[in-house]
Amino acid sequence: MSTEMDAEQPLPPWRPLLTAARKREGRLPGGRWLQLATLSVHGYPRVRTLVFRDWSAAATLDLLTDARSEKCLEIERTPEVELCWLFRKAREQFRLRGTATLIAPTGDSVDLDQHWKRLPASGRSVWAWPPPGDPFDPQGPWPQEVSDDAATPEHLRLLRISLHLVEQLDLKPHPHLRRLWTSSRQWQEQRINP
Ligand SMILES: Cc1cc2nc3c(=O)[nH]c(=O)nc-3n(C[C@H](O)[C@H](O)[C@H](O)COP(=O)(O)O)c2cc1C
Repeated sequence: MSTEMDAEQPLPPWRPLLTAARKREGRLPGGRWLQLATLSVHGYPRVRTLVFRDWSAAATLDLLTDARSEKCLEIERTPEVELCWLFRKAREQFRLRGTATLIAPTGDSVDLDQHWKRLPASGRSVWAWPPPGDPFDPQGPWPQEVSDDAATPEHLRLLRISLHLVEQLDLKPHPHLRRLWTSSRQWQEQRINP
């Protein structure tokens, strides 16, 4: 897994901007929350919040999810997704468009196992709960923690998004700064009207 400091690939110009905006959020957990939009199997939009986990390459980011949740079926049908990441302190919004792949804990899933081990015991618990979206059953099980030595759950999925368009809107200057970068133009910056 790469980190912000990884020098394997040159970073696209928007990566340091995103890092700077994230830094301004400090240790607030909200700095890692982003919204993932997918297309439902019936053709309407769906959006929900996920936790950013890490960069796995210069323009590829990793999220974790549950194979039993609706978004996985949606992504299998339509892998094109959009993320919206709002940084309140920086007053900046990033919209990130990319192609998603779902990686299961079978075969070559070293990265998924690493993500699982890095989760806190409380964070792991949600994958031990009954299927998301099913009618609520108080019998659960609803564990609050899952220990370090628990095997990677079979329905854990690494949701890896390979980005091809990034757009930033910065509300600080007047006029607002809006620019976009696309991988097809070698991430060359284009400034557009806010
Ligand atoms: C702050 C916050 C963080 C969340 N993080 C995740 C996450 O990392 N992965 C995930 O699958 N769901 C996460 N969720 C739950 C999702 O927003 C969503 O409710 C769930 O994944 C079911 O989505 P779906 O039915 O559209 O598939 C989070 C919710 C909140 C409020």
